[in-house]
Amino acid sequence: TTVSVALKPTLPDGTYVATYRVLSGDGHPVSASFLFGVGSGPVDKTAATGGPANRVWEISGAFARFLMYLSALLAAGLAFFVAFIHDQDEDRWRLIGWARIATITAVFGAAGIIIVQAALLSGKSLSAATDGGVLGDVLDSRLGWSLGVLVMGLIAVHLSTDIRNHTASQVLALYGGLATAGSFAIWGHSTELSPIWLSTAADIVHAAAAAVWFGGIIGLLLVLRRRTDQPVASTAQIVSRFSSAAAITVALLAAAGLALSWNATGGTVDALISTTYGRLLLVKVLITAVILAIAGYNRSRLVPALVQGEAQQSAPAVVDAAAPADPGTATKDEPAPMFTDAQRATNWGLLRRAVLIEATALVVVLGITAVLVNVTPARTVIATRDRVVNQTQSVPTGTVNLVVVPARVGENTLHIQYADAAGKPIDVANTLTIEFSLPSAELAAISRQTAKAGPGHFIYTGPELSISGTWTVTVVARTSDFSEQRTTFSVPIRN
Ligand code: HEM
Repeated sequence: TTVSVALKPTLPDGTYVATYRVLSGDGHPVSASFLFGVGSGPVDKTAATGGPANRVWEISGAFARFLMYLSALLAAGLAFFVAFIHDQDEDRWRLIGWARIATITAVFGAAGIIIVQAALLSGKSLSAATDGGVLGDVLDSRLGWSLGVLVMGLIAVHLSTDIRNHTASQVLALYGGLATAGSFAIWGHSTELSPIWLSTAADIVHAAAAAVWFGGIIGLLLVLRRRTDQPVASTAQIVSRFSSAAAITVALLAAAGLALSWNATGGTVDALISTTYGRLLLVKVLITAVILAIAGYNRSRLVPALVQGEAQQSAPAVVDAAAPADPGTATKDEPAPMFTDAQRATNWGLLRRAVLIEATALVVVLGITAVLVNVTPARTVIATRDRVVNQTQSVPTGTVNLVVVPARVGENTLHIQYADAAGKPIDVANTLTIEFSLPSAELAAISRQTAKAGPGHFIYTGPELSISGTWTVTVVARTSDFSEQRTTFSVPIRN
């Protein structure tokens, strides 16, 4: 995309800062600025570019996103827990209370995202929140649709906790939760990372599974805290039901998470270790792996022990049929207890602690996710990094800079810029030739004439870089009828 704006012909000489703000394809505001000069003086590189103000808003945006993820997933997950996992005992009202608080917080988080987006897009800080035009632009985008679906999902989730009919409440919790989690896929990276059908499907499954898991863990924590003093068999049943649901959910979450990761990184080790996105993703996966290890231990050891312990506790005493009928002499054949009261209490304590650790670690994972979704995906970083070769060499008159775009086999554009020692563009020649050769393929030099684009600036676009390999590009500036200045660059060209 090319955007151009004509300069006023009356601009006085001096240094200017050109600043732009656009909404990128995945919905993030992108802003940048560059310096340019009018007249013959050097460009003042100390001129302000207005960067730091954005930083504050970007951090606020990540925080609003974190709040929204945390509370929306909690609301949806708790409603699911109440409708499908809980035994509908009275303490469900406590969970419902938390789900309602989470619903309201999610709406605040969404409002925060709108304000931050408006501030970033307009550069007007807080006053953007009252600017109808800017708010209209923000809402008339994928973000508007995403938050619209989110609010509808949250309303359904809220109704599910309000309604008396259990089946209707299950339907509302299920579809409301799906809409809440699915709303995330309408805005963000998954709308831009191809294949888009895979990113979108994986995003919906991933977020829905995250809601069931996170909301379920918090639901379980609340149940365990409420029923601490008197562990009963019904609590063990809730734990067991959640453990089974979580096993399926976590498998879906991991599979969808890996699909998303593949799409966002291109599946290369380089993308994982050399980009901020890749490193954040690795930390996220590492923490998830620790949570999974704890969850695996709970499921394979602790939960069966708890269920067995509570079943043994509530089992009726077995009467020996062969014993005499006289109640006075009847012997109760009590099976030797497998779990003592102390062991049962220890197991419940262990479970409570494990669930608390899991819940805390999941909050950290969501915090990392809120940053991850605001960072340029590793695949884009790598693709952009490879697309430009930018080299500068010293020459007697100062420096010469060569930029080759996209530095891939096929048509490329080359920019050559001469500058003096202070960085000011200088005219060393009126004509400039480029010689392309590829020594490894024994390709002899091909010579091409460039076009002059400005003081010391020459451009050439052509298909000469047609084989991958390290090309020798020599720029030849004819400085007088009898002399020329030759500068040689090694330019890697990829497929
Ligand atoms: C195997 C572990 C995991 C992997 C590989 C993984 C990977 C990913 C990736 C690549 C994204 C896309 C980020 C982007 O938009 O660029 C994502 C988003 C997300 N992940 Fe995970 N994740 C994992 C575990 C978790 C866990 C444990 C949770 C929380 C319970 C979670 C919650 C989320 C959420 C809420 C999103 C944002 C969805 C959106 O806004 O579109 N993830 N994850």
